Amino acid sequence: VPIPVTFLGGESGAWRVTRIDAVVGAALPSVARLEMVEGPFPGSTPAAWVLRGVTSNQRYTTAGEQTALAATQAPLGRPGATRAALIPITKSERWWALSQDQRREVVEETSHHIAIGLEYLPTVARRLHHGRDLGEPFDFLTWFEFPPEGADAFEALVDRLRSTPEWDFVEREIDIRLDR
Ligand code: HEM
Repeated sequence: VPIPVTFLGGESGAWRVTRIDAVVGAALPSVARLEMVEGPFPGSTPAAWVLRGVTSNQRYTTAGEQTALAATQAPLGRPGATRAALIPITKSERWWALSQDQRREVVEETSHHIAIGLEYLPTVARRLHHGRDLGEPFDFLTWFEFPPEGADAFEALVDRLRSTPEWDFVEREIDIRLDR
């Protein structure tokens, strides 16, 4: 069942913002704190910015990959997972013009996104939210939680993914780091 999720950047929220980097494209205003709200999208909020997405079914995974992911993934909200990253991403029109099989080819056969990602489970817990069909500025809101001991590994993961052919299609990416 898809869950609507709202990320509110502002003066309040469970997560403290430690840095916001515009990796590609326009930045987001800097804020002190972030709140993640799961459930129906809130109406008016006092936040400086509001990003919305919905969870969804998988698009690209094979049955074998889904089994491997399910066997190793960790849930969100682990008490020791006091670090987080919200990485909103938009891909280019060239990406969206590809067919499903061409996109799968880029994501996994040439970029090994899922195989690389699996190496970092269960240290890193993740959830993918889709914004494109909501008319949101970001196609994806990617969310990750990990313990402080996993911070170096997470950095390595992000570097590896950003150097893949898949990232040639990324036209906007913001890297927001958090702790609590
Ligand atoms: C923690 C390890 C990771 C794992 C296991 C992982 C796994 C996956 C999987 C299985 C998908 C495909 C979902 C589908 O079939 O629809 C996916 C999509 C995606 N991931 Fe990751 N990922 C990881 C880390 C990351 C990181 C660090 C980033 C950002 C820097 C990222 C960004 C994305 C994006 C933007 C998509 C959507 C791609 C699209 O639909 O075009 N992932 N990831």
